[in-house]
Amino acid sequence: MNKSSLKACDVIIFGGGGDLAMRKLLPALYHLDMDGLLAPTTRIIGASRRELTAEEYQTKVRAALDEFVPSSVGDDDTWSRFKERLNYVSVNAQEVSDFSRFNDNGVGDDGRDVVFYLATSPDLFGSICSSLATHGLNQERMRVVLEKPLGRDLVSSRAINTEVMQNFSESQVFRIDHYLGKETVQNLLAIRFGNTLFEPLWDSAHIDNIQITVSETVGVEGRWGYYDKAGALRDMVQNHLVQLLCLVAMEPPSRMDADSVRDEKIKVLKALRPISGANAYNKTVRGQYAKGVVNGKSVQGYFDEEGSNPESRTETFVALRADIDNWRWAGVPFYLRTGKRLGQRYSEIVIQYKAVPHSIFSDESNRQLQRNQLIIRLQPEEKISLTVMNKVPGASEGMNLQPVDLNLSLTEAFQNKRSPEAYERLLLDVMRDDATLFMRYDEVEAAWKWVDGIMEAWKQTSERPKEYASGSWGPAASMALPIKDGKNWHDY
Ligand code: BG6
Repeated sequence: MNKSSLKACDVIIFGGGGDLAMRKLLPALYHLDMDGLLAPTTRIIGASRRELTAEEYQTKVRAALDEFVPSSVGDDDTWSRFKERLNYVSVNAQEVSDFSRFNDNGVGDDGRDVVFYLATSPDLFGSICSSLATHGLNQERMRVVLEKPLGRDLVSSRAINTEVMQNFSESQVFRIDHYLGKETVQNLLAIRFGNTLFEPLWDSAHIDNIQITVSETVGVEGRWGYYDKAGALRDMVQNHLVQLLCLVAMEPPSRMDADSVRDEKIKVLKALRPISGANAYNKTVRGQYAKGVVNGKSVQGYFDEEGSNPESRTETFVALRADIDNWRWAGVPFYLRTGKRLGQRYSEIVIQYKAVPHSIFSDESNRQLQRNQLIIRLQPEEKISLTVMNKVPGASEGMNLQPVDLNLSLTEAFQNKRSPEAYERLLLDVMRDDATLFMRYDEVEAAWKWVDGIMEAWKQTSERPKEYASGSWGPAASMALPIKDGKNWHDY
C-alpha cells in the first residue's frame, strides 16, 4: 500500500475499556502504527461509561499492550507516537446528550473520515447510532463497525439492522466477522482465483466432500451465562463457519470488490438446503463437554463452570452436514464441525478430491492409493498443503506408492513478513472504506434463516446434546456423521 495515500481518520471505540478493545482492537491499531499504516494525524478515542482521563486511558492501554503485544515493550518510538493518538471520552451510550462530547473533542473535524467501532452489546447499537445522528455524526464519511452477535435469530437480527439503518446507510455499516480477516482465509481467494490450477477442478465432478473444522481447546472461560444463551451454532457456525463455506463454494466474482464478492456469497447462502424437522437427526450432532484432560491439564465440565445450570441444553459442540443445491455442488457434502474443549486448537478447510476413476496399479499399490487432498490450515500455523501420490524411491520397491505433501508454509515462504492479526487487516479496510471482507445485511439474514431452521428442529426434540470428554474430538456420533455417507473426517 502506498503510505503517502494514508488518510487521516478518527477511530472511536465504544466499549473502549472492554476485553475486545484491550485484547484485539488496540493491539491491532498499535501494529498498524508500527507498520506505518496509520496517517500521522489519525486519532484513536476510547469511549465508555467510566470516568477516565486521557492519561489514565493511556496507562490502561499501555498495560494491555505489555500483556498482549510483548514485542511492544521497548519500542519507545511507536509507543510515543501511539500514545499521542490516544484520547478518551466518557459517554453513557443511552444518554443522548453525552454524545456532544465527541463534537467537543473535534471528532470528524477538518472533513476527515470517522470510524465508530461498536464493541458493545448489540442492544445498544440502535441507540448509539441514533445519538450519533442527533449530533451530526452519521455523515457519509462516517462509518459504524458492528461486532457480533448480530442478533440471536432472524427476527432479532432484523430488528438490530432496522434500528441501525434508520441513521446509517448500508454502505456505512461494516459487520465484522474476524475470520474473514485471517491471512489464510484471504489466501483461499488467492489460491482459487489467482491460479488456473484449482478452479477447473473445483466442483462436484472432482471433489468428493469438503470439511471445515474449527476446534478450540478453551472452554467458556468464565462467561457461562453469556455463552449459554448462544451455543456453538450461533456463536461459531452462523458466522465464522458459514462465511468460510461461502468463500469455498462461491462462483468467481467478476472483481474483488465488496458487492461483487458479496453477491456471490449470498447465492451460496440461498442455495443452502434447509435442515429442518427429522432431517436434523441425520444431519446434525450436538454435544456438551464433560470434564477431561486438555493439553495435559485436568479441566472441568460445562456444568461445573461457575454460574452453570444443569438443565441447560446449550451445545458447546456441533457437527453437521450441509448441502448446496446448485450445479457446481450437487451431491457434494460439506461437513462442518466446531467445539470447545476439544483435543487440539486448530482450524482447517479440507478439500477431499475423488478417487482416480480407474487404477492401473497392482492390488498392493491400489491399497496404498489415497485421494488428493487440499488442506488450508488457518491456525495454529498458516499453511496450505496438497497431498499427492508418489512412488517410493528404490528399484526393489516395485510400484510402491505413498502420499506426499506439497507444502506451502506461509511462515516459511515469507520469512521476513510478520503475519498480521485478523483485526489489523479489517480495521485498515474500514479506515479505507473497503467492505469486501465484511458482511452485508442480506448475508447475515440468510445465514440466520438457515440456522433458525436447525434451532427450531432441535427445540422440537426431547434429546439432550451428547456428552463428550474434554480433550476428545467431540461426541462419538459426530465421528459417525460422515461415515454414514462412506466418508471420514480428516485427522489432524
Ligand atoms: C468468537 C467466539 O467469535 O470466536 C468465541 O465468540 C471463539 O467463542 C472465538 O472462541 C474464536 O476465534 P479465534 O480467532 O480464536 O479462532
